[in-house]
Amino acid sequence: MEPMVLEPFAATRDVHVIPTLFPVPNVGVIPMNAFVLRAAEPVLVDTGAGVLSEQFLDALSSIMRIEDLAWIWLTHEDADHTGSLERLLELAPRARVATDFFAVGRMLPARPFPLDRLRLVTPGERLPAGDRELVALRPPLFDSPATLGLLDDSSGVLFSSDAFGAPLPTAQEAAATSIADLDPGVVAAAQAAWANVDSPWVGSVDPAVFARSLDAVRRLEPTAILSSHLPPAHGQTETMLANLAAAVTTTPPPATTQAQLDVLLAGMAPAAV
Ligand SMILES: [Fe+2]
Ligand SMILES: [Fe+2]
Repeated sequence: MEPMVLEPFAATRDVHVIPTLFPVPNVGVIPMNAFVLRAAEPVLVDTGAGVLSEQFLDALSSIMRIEDLAWIWLTHEDADHTGSLERLLELAPRARVATDFFAVGRMLPARPFPLDRLRLVTPGERLPAGDRELVALRPPLFDSPATLGLLDDSSGVLFSSDAFGAPLPTAQEAAATSIADLDPGVVAAAQAAWANVDSPWVGSVDPAVFARSLDAVRRLEPTAILSSHLPPAHGQTETMLANLAAAVTTTPPPATTQAQLDVLLAGMAPAAV
């Protein structure tokens, strides 16, 4: 399959998901979600993958007038989260970018960024968005030191960035609109594997120390956990936390080798004439 942006769907009363499916050879299909939070000051959480920018912008404009965006919250600077950023700065001239200072610093060498459009946030800070506040937080797992998730204090929805993500075996599973539609054992194994690939330091963390990070999520009492790389999880916080706790002692999956790449490329070679 080719990477593709799917039809947006409502995950909660005021959050729409813009899902992208991204196949990963020998692994499965990874969901790549961006989110529209229908606050009085509308918020886009992350901006999709650059190679699918046209599809992404079409999907976004099917939900709202892009020019009405007030905030673009970048959870971190990775390419799967910042793909349409420059286009959106043009299309939404009043939007400001809420993110961590280091995220901008890590983007700047390749992607000059208008600093007057920036609204820096730090962990624990509350960003007013009209009818609610967005609480910036560091998720328990991350692959960039700049990562900032957020809690919508009105709905209790937690946007966790890469944390809680999982590549799923099939496109159908990756396209689910709720993890309630998936086999819990499949989700648990995939989350533990992803945790070890995306945050490889998790295997060297003292489980008791990591448990404190998970407790911080528990205390938020999120009504839903919206990961950038998993279908929405409603009311399943304890399951999600248990799956991450297990990641500390899970053997990391082996890295993809050149031999596997050779096999993959041989399968993609055009037929000889
Ligand atoms: Fe990332
Ligand atoms: Fe990501």
